[in-house]
Amino acid sequence: MGKLRFWMGLLLAGGVALAHAQGNPAAGKEKAMVCAGCHGEDGNSSAPIFPKIAGQHAAYIAKQLHDFKSQKRGDPTMGALAEPLTGQDIDDLAAYYSQQKITIEKTEANALGETIYRTGNLKTGVPACTGCHGFGGNGNPGAVFPQLNGQYAAYVEKTLRDFKAGERGNDMNGMMRALAARMNEAEIKAVADYISSLQ
Ligand code: HEC
Ligand code: HEC
Repeated sequence: MGKLRFWMGLLLAGGVALAHAQGNPAAGKEKAMVCAGCHGEDGNSSAPIFPKIAGQHAAYIAKQLHDFKSQKRGDPTMGALAEPLTGQDIDDLAAYYSQQKITIEKTEANALGETIYRTGNLKTGVPACTGCHGFGGNGNPGAVFPQLNGQYAAYVEKTLRDFKAGERGNDMNGMMRALAARMNEAEIKAVADYISSLQ
């Protein structure tokens, strides 16, 4: 009997931990009101300088908010906004946005962008983006590789340049910094353009 109660207790504790980690999307929706001016009500941002966060993996959104809060990812605006958020707020916001649907941009066919995305650049040692972000740009939630498809090209370009310059340095093991450093301006522009229309 004691043993059974022990296991029941463990199960319950596990369930509570899981619910916490997943966040509450309804609570997140309320907390997202202060975010809507820039990121849109549903995470499809109002201007290309603000990244879309609709449909992004919850674990990635939560990581970024923790990184802004600790200033591991430096951005004065997001740093100030993330500062007062509790762990629960972050989980709730992440749960809400991850359940929204991203809108895909329309761009012209882009051969250079497609080549970089799918095969990289053998000569300069840029790996294929598909290796971590997937063919459709859906990323990998378990590994915390973000979804990219549909993202505004202007933001993708900016963040690739930030990685290249080391201004954004919150990527595990410098994965993105190392490869962005090997990309030239034409490749950055082309791959950003390709990503924004990727279905
Ligand atoms: C005043 C405009 C503004 C507001 C309000 C705002 N953000 Fe942001 N957010 C930004 C900008 C700009 C960036 C991109 C920073 C950069 O270039 O590194 C960003 C980036 C992010 C990112 C990282 C996206 C990615 O793809 O890496 C997340 C997540 C995020 N914001 C969530 C939120 C949440 C949640 C709120 C509300 C609590 C919020 N933001 C409010 C402007 C804003
Ligand atoms: C070895 C795995 C790996 C490869 C290959 C890779 N990425 Fe990434 N990428 C990551 C990780 C991990 C992050 C998230 C870093 C963080 O935690 O902030 C990321 C983040 C990004 C972001 C920022 C997303 C956002 O919303 O801010 C962009 C843009 C990006 N990658 C583009 C690319 C492109 C373009 C390529 C191919 C040239 C590529 N990546 C190849 C692992 C990879």
